Amino acid sequence: MNVLILGSGGREHALSWKIAQSPLLNKVFIAPGNAGTQNVGQNVPLDILDFKAVAEFSLTEKIDIIVVGPEAPLVAGIYDYFKNREDTKSIKVVGPSLEGSKLEGSKAYGKVFMMENNIPTAAYGEFTSESLEAGIAHLRANEGPYVLKADGLAAGKGVLIIDDLAEAESELKEMLSGKFGDASSTVVIEEFLDGLEFSVFVLTDGTRYKVLPIAKDYKRIGEGDTGLNTGGMGAVSPVPFVDDAMMQKVEERIIKPTITGLQKREIEYTGFVFIGLISVDGEPKVIEYNCRLGDPETEVVMPRIKSDFLPVLAALGRNEFGKLPLEQDDRSCATVMLVSGGYPEAYEKGKTITGIDTVKDSIVFHAGTKQVGDEVVTNGGRVIAVSSFGDNKDEAIALSMKNAELISFDKKNYRKDIGFDL
Ligand code: AMP
Ligand code: GLY
Repeated sequence: MNVLILGSGGREHALSWKIAQSPLLNKVFIAPGNAGTQNVGQNVPLDILDFKAVAEFSLTEKIDIIVVGPEAPLVAGIYDYFKNREDTKSIKVVGPSLEGSKLEGSKAYGKVFMMENNIPTAAYGEFTSESLEAGIAHLRANEGPYVLKADGLAAGKGVLIIDDLAEAESELKEMLSGKFGDASSTVVIEEFLDGLEFSVFVLTDGTRYKVLPIAKDYKRIGEGDTGLNTGGMGAVSPVPFVDDAMMQKVEERIIKPTITGLQKREIEYTGFVFIGLISVDGEPKVIEYNCRLGDPETEVVMPRIKSDFLPVLAALGRNEFGKLPLEQDDRSCATVMLVSGGYPEAYEKGKTITGIDTVKDSIVFHAGTKQVGDEVVTNGGRVIAVSSFGDNKDEAIALSMKNAELISFDKKNYRKDIGFDL
C-alpha cells in the first residue's frame, strides 16, 4: 500500500514512523514533513490546503490511504473533495467529512451535538453581537471563573478563563467585535469545570470504533501548569487515574453516544475523534471534540500500539475493521517537547540542532525541524519530542528528561515537570 500523511509536526512523524513499520507498506510520503519524517519516508513539498495538488500527487503515486494530521485540511473539506471527484473517490481519506469536522471547527456545533445526545459536558450559553446583552446577563447570573470560547478555530488561543466579572464582560464584548476575527463572531460561555484532564482518541468509520491508548498532555508553557497555553509541552500514556471504571463510564456515556449521534445526523466520519475530557469528582465530562489526533499525544499513543496499524486504517469502512486487533504495550510512554525560547510567543528559527544521534534509548520525533545541507535546524516553536518507554510513568519520564539534555540548540526550553500531577 502507498500512504500519504499530511502535516509536518511530531504527530506526523509519529504516524509515519508507525506506518513505516508495516510489512504491508510499499511507500509512505509525508507532505510537507520535516527533517525527521524524511528518515522514515519521502517528504513532498505540497501545500496541504491545495486539494487539487494533493489529488494530482495521489493519483500519480497511486496513493491508497491519506492520513490527515492537522485540522485545517479537514475543516476546509478535504474528505468531501476526494469523495466528490470520480478519479479520487476510491482513495481512503482518514478524516471526517466537512460536516463531521464541525465538531472541532465550531464549539457551538459541538455543544449542540453533545446536548442532543445527552453527553456530559459543561453547561453553556451561545451568544453573538445581537445577543450581547443576554451574554452579559448570563455572565452576571453565574459565578467565576468564566470560560469564554471563540466558536471557530483561533490557533489554540480562542479559550479564555477569567476570574473577574468585569474583565469577562469586557472580553466578551471584544470577542464579539472581532478579537479573533470571524472565529469569535459567536462566543460560547461555559461553566468552569475543575478536575484532571485527559485525552481519548477513537478511530471510527462511523459504525465501528476502536479506542486508542489513553493519554494526558501538558498544555501550559510553565512548570506547575502556569503561563500561556501551547500546543502541548509533553504527554504521558497511560494515565494512572483513568482506570477501568473510568473508561467504562467514558465508553458508555461519551464514546457510544458520540458514534450514534454521528449516525443520527447521517454524518460521514472515517477518522479520529479526539475527545478532550475532564474528570470532575470521578465523573468524565467533555471539554471539547477535535477531529484529528493530538500533538504531542500521538508521540506517546503510536509507540504504545503494538499491532500493525496500517491494516487497521485500511479496514475502515468494512466489517473487518471491528475484528482486527489493536494491542497495546503494557509499558508507559512519556514524551517531553523541546521548544524554541520565547514560544508560544515570538521565537527565532534556523538554530542548529546537535546531539540527536547520541540519543539511543528514546525515540526522537521531529516537530519544527528542517534539513539545511548537512544540518538539522529549528523551524518552529515546538522542535523535538523525546518519547521513552518505562515500566511505569516515572521511569518513562525520567528517561525522556535524561535524553532531553543530550539534544541542544540555542534557547532550548522544555518543561521538567511532565507528569507532576499524576
Ligand atoms: P480547548 O481549546 O477547548 O481545548 O480549551 C483549552 C483549555 O481550556 C482546555 O484544555 C482546558 O484546560 C481549559 N478549559 C476549556 N473549557 C473549560 C471548562 N469548561 N472548564 C475549565 N477549563 C476549561
Ligand atoms: N495537544 C492538544 C492538541 O493537539 O490539540
